Amino acid sequence: MKKTTILRGATLSFYADPFVEGDDNSYNFIKDALVFLKEGEITEIGAYEVLKNQIPEGFEITDYSGHLITPGFIDTHVHYPQTTMIGAYGQQLLEWLTNYTFPTEAKFKDKEHARSVAKMFLKQTIKAGTTTSMVYGTVFKDSVNAFFEESEKLGTRMLCGKVLMDRNAPEEILDTAESGYNDSKELIEKWHNNGRQLYVITPRFAPTSTREQLKLAGKLFNEYPDVFMQTHLCENEGEMAWVKELFPERKSYLDVYDHYGLVGKRAVFGHCVHFEDEDFETMSKKEASISHCPTSNLFLGSGLFDLKKAKTGKHPVAVGLGTDLGAGTSFSQLQTLNEAYKIAEMRGNAMTAIQGYFLATRGGAESLGLENKIGSLEKGMEADITIWDLTSTEIIDYRLEFAKDLEEKLFVQMILADDRAVHATYVNGEKVYDTKNNYYKLD
Ligand code: GUN
Ligand code: ZN
Repeated sequence: MKKTTILRGATLSFYADPFVEGDDNSYNFIKDALVFLKEGEITEIGAYEVLKNQIPEGFEITDYSGHLITPGFIDTHVHYPQTTMIGAYGQQLLEWLTNYTFPTEAKFKDKEHARSVAKMFLKQTIKAGTTTSMVYGTVFKDSVNAFFEESEKLGTRMLCGKVLMDRNAPEEILDTAESGYNDSKELIEKWHNNGRQLYVITPRFAPTSTREQLKLAGKLFNEYPDVFMQTHLCENEGEMAWVKELFPERKSYLDVYDHYGLVGKRAVFGHCVHFEDEDFETMSKKEASISHCPTSNLFLGSGLFDLKKAKTGKHPVAVGLGTDLGAGTSFSQLQTLNEAYKIAEMRGNAMTAIQGYFLATRGGAESLGLENKIGSLEKGMEADITIWDLTSTEIIDYRLEFAKDLEEKLFVQMILADDRAVHATYVNGEKVYDTKNNYYKLD
């Protein structure tokens, strides 16, 4: 029997969507709480005064008083192989893919290279306070095997898939419609629901797949009713014009994916920046999700996502937050929210801190259909937890002296803080990272 861990500190967790119910009807904040963890689960959570009698005699609790305890953050769109090329100079999506991304991903033919990058990616993710990510591998199936093997060692709940691409890229990183289907199937059988790992069918984006490949991807999505699907959609204007040229028979970019049966529950579309009303309508009706990737959209000059319309327009769609590294520029979801806030402002809307923290936690979980497992601090949920230092830099510490309430304090975190604010990270009930002693489980 694994031992119980008891954490003490302030807790923040969501039970409803603040975009729908309003900020005040969406979250629980307990100023002084106890969180009991056992065998990877949260077994109890509540106010210290209420639960203190349940602390066994002589038991040493882990005291995080003065810190904030939240669910581990969730990243719904990220490319682990691009860890080696974050911050690559120059130009928009299509040139960036050709000049940097494709040569970078070609190196993942070597499984040991893939493993070493996966290790660094997972470490940086944990150090940023993120405990679940929906991840792109490369075209090579062993790049996905290496990723899941490393995630398994860490105990994280991760979603990952082999990239399907059978045209419009260098020969050395192309599969075929048939080999892509077979490799994906093999990986699903091996990894999907194997411990905490989940598989994602991953056509890179419409321009790099033939009709035959998209058809087989749709077939696979239909054959395994609980696997996930991820791809890119309406990110960049050059990309959209190219899709129009390549698929003149389809009425829109989204319709390409829809035609091949790739739009539905557990399908997560990265970006969706250049969206029409009909696109929101289709996504809403089919219960597909969007991953909003603000740092990437700014870095590649892709455009400004309309978060307000997606969440509260006529056709609401579930939205999670994506770092989209290496087009994105930070592992930190706080920094991702910083840019999300500014994009919302550019659209003439404001995003509150409460909405931001929702997107990074329960909102992300809902967009993946995993809200019964991760994304909130509740009895029975998986124990993936981040402990935050709210005074991680001198200026934040100073600034908070002038903050009047919780929402202002959270907003300051969202704008000024980053991975330095992560004090410790728990995965599956186990502490895997602690700034004290600079501990990381896999070092
Ligand atoms: N579209 C197709 N591939 C990619 C990628 O790797 N990154 C981003 N941002 N967009 C893409
Ligand atoms: Zn991406």
